[in-house]
Amino acid sequence: MTSQDPALPASGARLPQERRLVTEIPGPRSRELQERRTAAVPPGVGSVLPVYVTDADGGVVVDADGNSLIDFGSGIAVTSVGNANPRVAARVKAQADRFTHTCFMVAPYESYVAVCENLNRITPGDHEKRSFLVNSGAEAVENAVKIARYATGRDAVVVFDHGYHGRTLLTMTLTSKNMPYKQGFGPYAPEVYRAPLAYPFRWPTGPENCGPEAAAQAVDQIEKRIGASNVAAVVIEPIQGEGGFIVPAPGFLPALAEFCRANGILFVADEVQTGFARTGDMFACEHEGIVPDIVATAKGIAGGLPLAGVTGRADIMDKVHVGGLGGTYGGNPLACEAALAVLEEIEDGKLTERARRIGETMLPRLHALAERVPAIGDVRGRGAMLAVELVRPGTKDPDPELTARVARRCHERGLLVLTAGTYGNVLRFLPPLVISDDLLADGLAVLDAAFTD
Ligand SMILES: Cc1ncc(COP(=O)(O)O)c(C=O)c1O
Repeated sequence: MTSQDPALPASGARLPQERRLVTEIPGPRSRELQERRTAAVPPGVGSVLPVYVTDADGGVVVDADGNSLIDFGSGIAVTSVGNANPRVAARVKAQADRFTHTCFMVAPYESYVAVCENLNRITPGDHEKRSFLVNSGAEAVENAVKIARYATGRDAVVVFDHGYHGRTLLTMTLTSKNMPYKQGFGPYAPEVYRAPLAYPFRWPTGPENCGPEAAAQAVDQIEKRIGASNVAAVVIEPIQGEGGFIVPAPGFLPALAEFCRANGILFVADEVQTGFARTGDMFACEHEGIVPDIVATAKGIAGGLPLAGVTGRADIMDKVHVGGLGGTYGGNPLACEAALAVLEEIEDGKLTERARRIGETMLPRLHALAERVPAIGDVRGRGAMLAVELVRPGTKDPDPELTARVARRCHERGLLVLTAGTYGNVLRFLPPLVISDDLLADGLAVLDAAFTD
């Protein structure tokens, strides 16, 4: 592909890297499938955009009606190396021909160990580490809490306003937002406490005061309400994902990490959405030099195969007794092969740099849009994890209706975007890191037009 001819496949791409609409969205075939789904699948499992996917490659998703949509979602930050990445697909196929499962807890295999060696190498900090593998982000976070409690002998866990950590009982409890994640699913797990997050756009005394003030409030609440010596772990997303791509004000994370260190509290970074080059660093914690005691990873780790990791200081991780950690499918050999391919793609393809380039391309465009559209109250994010927060003009009142309308308009025009945020008023952008410049530019043009409309 040349950058002048976006309709041709990108170098190595199987499908034309283009937006192509041949029916309305969703088209007739997708609508038919949606009817079958409604009869077979409970409505509790929602879908952002009910087009039924038949193919996907690089930065495009093709549906059952033949429409080719630009992917600004990456399956929620998963297919960072591109959908059906050829290196990932080849390694998974080759592994499927050899063996598909033994259970690492029954009879182990090398690829699991290699993924853990890589996680130990690439996560922040030069200290000795250990890793083990599970199936989902929620499972990784839940295991991080188990280990922190075991290692410290303490019960309390501190999480933050707007945080999202998953849908299991414990991670749902750790999650901040009630609808749709918690409503009706209680009672929740005990010993979970919530502290304020440094949310610059909504900080009462202004973004410039946000970092130190929020850290002081969080520390004060921990000391007064829980007692620092009762806290096993602080669990935090270095940039919040579902909460609305909130980048904590500078200084907040380092102050928290320092408080944890001084009080024997483990700092657990939930890098499930931010990890693996997404923010322009391999992990978002690196931006402010944070070295967590435990890191939970998932999503971008394996190009779409279900895999997640827990990586931590060796002295902490080695404490847990034999058999206390694991699971039937954790570190499945197909997923491990995919992860090894993903890591090669990230490192060989310099995808951290590519994520920064995407940010440098998109941020000025989003700021220019915000100049023209008074409903855009905030533009934020880092690397290829970017968002706009929509408000009623002249106020900070959230506008979830407009957010939904703009997202729908983007969908109708062939751009897959996601929403997020405690107030449902954030449009978020997570393009695959391998997206071509032309496709990125076309996606931004669609977004622009959706607002202008
Ligand atoms: C920060 C964060 N933690 C945990 C999770 C849960 O991951 P999973 O859906 O793989 O269980 C998510 C998913 O969106 C996430 O964004």
